[in-house]
Amino acid sequence: MELFQHDLVILGSGIAGLRAALAASQASQGELDIALVSKLQLMRAHSVAAEGGTAAVLRSEEGDSYELHAWDTIKGSDFLADQDAVDFFVHEMPKEILYLDHLGLPWSRRPDGHIAQRPFGGHSYPRAVFAADKTGFQEMQTLYDNLTRNIRNTGKVHRYDEVFCTAILIDEGLFAGLMVIDMIHGRVMLIQGKALIIATGGAGQIFGFTTYSETVTCDGLAMAYRAGLPLKDMEFVQFHPTGLVPSGILMTEACRGEGGYLVNNQGERFMQNYAAKSMELAPRDIIARAEMTEILEGRGFTGAEGMEYIQLDLRHLGAARINARLPLIREVAIKHIGLDPIQKPIPIRPVAHYSMGGIHTDLSGRTPVDNVWAAGEAACVSLHGANRLGTNSTAECLLWGRVTGERAAHYALQAPFAATPNLLAKSEERRLSSLLHQAGTENHYHIRQELRRTMDTYMGVYRTGEGMQKGLARIDALKECYQHIRISDHNWVYNTDLMHALETGFMLDAAQVATIGALHREESRGGHARRDFPKRDDANWLKHTMAYKGPDGPRLEYIPVSITMWQPVERKY
Ligand code: FUM
Repeated sequence: MELFQHDLVILGSGIAGLRAALAASQASQGELDIALVSKLQLMRAHSVAAEGGTAAVLRSEEGDSYELHAWDTIKGSDFLADQDAVDFFVHEMPKEILYLDHLGLPWSRRPDGHIAQRPFGGHSYPRAVFAADKTGFQEMQTLYDNLTRNIRNTGKVHRYDEVFCTAILIDEGLFAGLMVIDMIHGRVMLIQGKALIIATGGAGQIFGFTTYSETVTCDGLAMAYRAGLPLKDMEFVQFHPTGLVPSGILMTEACRGEGGYLVNNQGERFMQNYAAKSMELAPRDIIARAEMTEILEGRGFTGAEGMEYIQLDLRHLGAARINARLPLIREVAIKHIGLDPIQKPIPIRPVAHYSMGGIHTDLSGRTPVDNVWAAGEAACVSLHGANRLGTNSTAECLLWGRVTGERAAHYALQAPFAATPNLLAKSEERRLSSLLHQAGTENHYHIRQELRRTMDTYMGVYRTGEGMQKGLARIDALKECYQHIRISDHNWVYNTDLMHALETGFMLDAAQVATIGALHREESRGGHARRDFPKRDDANWLKHTMAYKGPDGPRLEYIPVSITMWQPVERKY
C-alpha cells in the first residue's frame, strides 16, 4: 500500500470542499500542503446541480435585515435550528456573496447594475442571490477557476480526482488518514494528514425518487459514523415540492419565486387551502405535504410510469421571463419530457432533495474529534433544524467551507503528523481484498434498488410507526444480504462494480440511522410528518437526535437545541 502525506486533507469537492481549499490555502498564505480528494472529477460534484440561488441579506436599506433572515430560518426550521448558528450565519453570508462577486461570479443583475435577488419559499424578503437558474454551476466554476490558478501559483493544492475513499481512520482519538482506492491506477493508498475536512454531501440516493446525482451515496456520513462520530438529526429529510415527473430532476423553486403556480386537477391553486398568505412560497415541508394531500385525496393527475402529479404552471410568466430567468428549466423540460413550459404546465411531485441531518459539529464546523471538521450538507451544524429554507444550503456550503478551511488550516500549521496507523490501514486493506474476492451470491445492485424502494415507501413525506417498523426490518434484512454480495469484476483498475458495492454499504448504514431516528421521534416537525403523531411536541422532542454506531446498530442520544433568541410558536404562513 502506498502512503502519501499532506498537512490538510479535504474529502469532497463540491462547493464546501472547494471553498474550504481556497480558504485554507489563503489562511496559510500558501504554506500548507493540501490534498483535495474526490471520487469524481472536480467539476462533477453534485453542487453543480444547485439551481435557484444563495441566501444573504444585501439590502437593509430596502427592508431586509439580519433579524428577519434569522427569524425566517428559525421559524422555517420548525424551531429545531440552533439559534446561535443561525445568528452567525446571517451576519457572515453577505461577505461570501461579495467575495464571490470579486472572484468574478456572474451574478444576475438588476437594471441598475446591482446584484439581483428573487423571492424564495419561507423567506419574507426576496433575498436569493442567483445566476439565472444555474447558481450552483457558476459558484463551482468560480471557485474551481480560482483554485486552479492557486494550484498553478503555489503548487500546494494536490488534486486526487477519481480517488474513492473507503474509510476514515481515527487512531487514539485523532484523525490519522484516509484509506482510498485510486480508481485510475487501481491502487490502494493511505493518505495521511494532520487535519481532515469532510465535505462529501448528503444522503439523497437512499431514495429512489430524488433530485440527487447518482454519486450522492452517503459516503462521508457513513465513514464518519463507522469511525465513531455521531450523526445528528438524520430523520429530517427534505422533500422538495417540484421534482420533474418521472425522473425527479429538480424544477427549481425559483419557478415559484418568479411567480409560477401549483395547480390540482380541478384547476385550483390549492395552496390557498394550506398557506393562504404565502401560497406557493410557503416553506417546502408545508408545500410537499399539501401536494401529497391533494394527490392522496384524488386531486392529482396521473402521468408517465403511473406516477401521480401536480402541475407547475409557468405560462403566465411569458416567454421573455422564462428565457431570461429560467433557461435551464425550459431546456430540461423540453429535452427530458418533450414539454415546453412556455406552452404547457410541468408535471411535478415532492422529491427527496436534502438531508437536514449530518455529522454533528459545533459552530465552527468541528466534530467531536479534535482534528476533524465537516462542512456543507455532510455536516449538521444545526442551521436548518427540521426543515431547511431554499437557498440556505449553497450559502451554508460557502460559509462553513470558509470557516472550516480557516480553522483546519490554523490547526494543521501547528500540529505534528500522528503516527502512521499501520494496523488500521492493513485491516481496511484486508477488508477490501476479501470483499473483492468473496464467493457471495447476492447482487448488490438489487440490494440498492430495494433499499431505495423501501425508503420511498416508508420514509416519504408522510410516515407512520407501523410503516417505519416495516422499513427498518427490510433494511436489516438487506444489511444481512449485503454480507453475502458478489463482486463480478476482480480487478482493481476502475472497478466501478466494487465502488458501487462500497457505496451501497454506506447507504444501508445511513438509511438505518435515518429510519431509527424517525421511528423514535414520536411527533411531527418540519420534514418529519407522522400520521400517528401529527403534532409538534416541544415538551418531549425539542431536542437533537445523536446516533452513534453501536455493536448491534445505532445507539441514540439526545442533546438540547440552542435557543438564544425566540421561543417556539405555532408556524403560520
Ligand atoms: O429549488 C432550488 O433551486 C433549490 C434550492 C435549494 O435547495 O436551496
